[in-house]
Amino acid sequence: MNFELSEKEALLQKKVREFAEEKLLPGVIERDETSSYPIDLYREMVDMGLIGLPYEKEYGGQGGNYLDYAIAVKEISRVDASLGISFSVCTSLYGGSVYNSANEEQKKKFLKPVLEGGALGSFGLTEPNAGSDAGGCVTVAEKKGDHYVLNGAKCFTTNGPLCDYIAVYALTQPELKSKGLSLFLVEKGTPGFTIGKVENKMGIRAAQVSETIFTDCVVPAENLLGKEGDGFKIAMKTLDGGRIGVAAQGLGIAEGAFEIARKYLMKREQFGKPLYKNQYLAFKMAELECVIDQARLMLYKAAMDKSEGRPYSIAAAKAKLLCTNAAMQVTTEAVQMLGGNGFMKDYHVERMMRDAKITQIYEGTNEIQKLIISGALFK
Ligand code: CAA
Repeated sequence: MNFELSEKEALLQKKVREFAEEKLLPGVIERDETSSYPIDLYREMVDMGLIGLPYEKEYGGQGGNYLDYAIAVKEISRVDASLGISFSVCTSLYGGSVYNSANEEQKKKFLKPVLEGGALGSFGLTEPNAGSDAGGCVTVAEKKGDHYVLNGAKCFTTNGPLCDYIAVYALTQPELKSKGLSLFLVEKGTPGFTIGKVENKMGIRAAQVSETIFTDCVVPAENLLGKEGDGFKIAMKTLDGGRIGVAAQGLGIAEGAFEIARKYLMKREQFGKPLYKNQYLAFKMAELECVIDQARLMLYKAAMDKSEGRPYSIAAAKAKLLCTNAAMQVTTEAVQMLGGNGFMKDYHVERMMRDAKITQIYEGTNEIQKLIISGALFK
């Protein structure tokens, strides 16, 4: 068992960290204030090969694995968690939905533009009355000859307002409830597919999140991914991978805030000595270092379990729980350790604290992760 990153993984981490610090850091405060999504910076991430990291080359991927992907999401989120989630939604939730269900032709058609072409993908599962209870969707897809007609609305769709492709879960047999869910690929510009309310959020403010609405939206039958009725299981499998992405996002936020606090404690002097010479603060950092380390180990285990073909649902749930709780804890403590400065936007940690909160909520609340973990304990 080797707990160190390989030379190749360490190099990837270094490359993404340098990109994030050089390119993402300068405008991150402004993007948060103005809720503006940096599509050009996102496209630079695509050109670096980040979005397709864990997929095979024939689908526009890089032939890497989920650990590479987790490292990259972490490093992006260390500086800009909004781009971190946008990346994760394209790779894990959109990419995963297609990869886990589509035939060869569909995979090439719908993965390549997102993984290597700079198109944005999104994931339409959640509805106003189907959040934690994902199987409670009411969006329907009625088969009519060689097409389906979709009617309904999804909410909280990350990348929604900008997306070129959306993986939409809709009922083909409403009477079967979640067992009647099927997956469809809807392209931007399809008549009847519109964007509703764009959300004004507490955190990840540069990420674009909206309602996505389907009104008599005609989707060709060849855009059904997988079989009718497979949708719920495809969504669950896809979310297992997505949780590794959100865990990586949480860990990145935690690492970013920790580093800001560490440097601050070394530089800032009060009562004639640097702050870290107060044992209370040094011990606080020791505790946070342990919180981050355990979260990182769990994330890397979940990512390697997935990459090497072992069951990973439970490990992904544990990683999501630990990493996102670490994000909340470390950012909250960092704001406190930086005192008045921590409350000010220039020091970044207040934004990181706001960004951290959603990681405990989306892609399955942390209560849902506990349900999954405890469910496996008492089978
Ligand atoms: N992989 C494959 N199949 C799975 C599975 C998995 N991980 N989990 C469950 N299934 C299967 C079960 O085996 C079962 O199959 P059978 O009927 O053949 O036995 C079927 O799915 C139903 O399973 P459950 O009875 O366990 O389903 P449930 O309705 O009780 O729900 C749940 C389980 C875990 C609570 C699920 O609803 C869930 O994950 N909820 C949270 C939803 C969520 O994460 N939403 C995130 C939205 S996306 C988002 O947040 C994106 C963003 O903006 C960034």
